[in-house]
Amino acid sequence: MTNTPFDPESLQAILSDAQARAAAASDVASLGALKGELLGKKSTLNGLKKQLGGLEPDQRKAVGQQMNETKSAIEAVLAEREAELSATERASQLEAERLDLTELRDEIKRGHYHLITQSRDRLEDVFVGMGFQVAEGPEVETAWYNFEALNIPDWHPARGSFDTIFVNLGEEEEVMLRSHTSPVQIRTMENQEPPIYIIAPGRTFRSDVADATHLPAFNQIEGLVIDKGITMGDLSGTIDAFVKAFFGHEVKTRLRPSYFPFTEPSAEFDISRADGSWLELGGCGMVHPNVLRNCGIDPEEWQGFAFGFGIDRLAVMRYELDDIRELVNNDVRFLGQF
Ligand code: DAH
Repeated sequence: MTNTPFDPESLQAILSDAQARAAAASDVASLGALKGELLGKKSTLNGLKKQLGGLEPDQRKAVGQQMNETKSAIEAVLAEREAELSATERASQLEAERLDLTELRDEIKRGHYHLITQSRDRLEDVFVGMGFQVAEGPEVETAWYNFEALNIPDWHPARGSFDTIFVNLGEEEEVMLRSHTSPVQIRTMENQEPPIYIIAPGRTFRSDVADATHLPAFNQIEGLVIDKGITMGDLSGTIDAFVKAFFGHEVKTRLRPSYFPFTEPSAEFDISRADGSWLELGGCGMVHPNVLRNCGIDPEEWQGFAFGFGIDRLAVMRYELDDIRELVNNDVRFLGQF
C-alpha cells in the first residue's frame, strides 16, 4: 500500500485521458484493448483504489464515490465510442461486399446444343405432348432384335438392304451395330404390357460411305403404339400432327404404299414443300402380327402402328442444309448459326 496522498485532480485527469484515447481508437478491437488498460486490474484507476485505505473514513467514502463515478463515466465513453466504431465498420464491410447486380459485363459466349440434339429434343417434346413416353435401347444389338423378331429371318432379302456393320463377336453376323431403332420396339414390347405409346430416338449405323445425303452413323426416331382398335387412321393422324407441330401448320403429309417386313400394310410418309413437291421422310405401317407374336402379344386382342425416320435428315430439311455432313464436321462457324 502506498502512502502517496490522494489527489482528486487525478480522477479528472484519468477521465480526460480516457476520453482522448477512446476518441483516438480506430477500431473496435483496439477499443477492447483500451478498455482493459483503463479499467482492468493494472489500470491507474485501480491503482488509486489502493490508496483509499490511507484516507480518513469520511473522506474515504466521498473519494470512493468519485472513483465509482469516474469508472462509470469511462464505461459510458467507451460504450459510446464502440457503438460509433462498429457502425462504421459495418458500413464499410457492407460497401466492400456490395454486389452490383445492375452492372453490365461483356457478353459471355455460351455454347448451345448441337443441331441434332436440338432437333431430337423438339421431337421428344412434340411426342411427349401427345402422350408418348421416351424409350431407349442399346446401340449394339443381336440378330434377334435387329432382324429376327422384326420378321426379317436370315434368308430374307431385306437383310441385305440394311448395310449392317457386324461386330466380330459370337456366331457370324450375330452381333451388330443396330441398323435402325426398330429393335427398341421389340425390347419395349418384351418388357411392357400394352397399351404402349413410345418413341425411341437414338444412334444407328450402316456401312454407308458419307456423302451429301448419307452418314454411316446417323440418328433415327422410332414410334410404336400398341392398343385396342388402333387403325391406319390413327397412324396417319399422328404423323400429320407431329409434322405440323415440327414444321408448321402449312405443311401437308401423305402416305404412299410401301413394304417393310415388320409392318402390314406398310407405307412411306412424305411432307409437302413450298414449291408443291413431296419429300420422303420415313417409313411406317401397322405392326405385323408376327412381330406382336414374337413379343408374346396376342394380335387378335391388340393392334398397333409403328414409324421410323432419320433425325439428321429432318434437321437437313428443317434448316435447309446443303449437305448432311455439315452436321458432323464440327465447324463452329456452321454450328454457331443455329
Ligand atoms: N426401320 C426402318 C428403316 O430404318 C424404318 C421404319 C419403317 C420403321 C417402318 C418403322 C416402320 O417403325 O414401321 O428403314
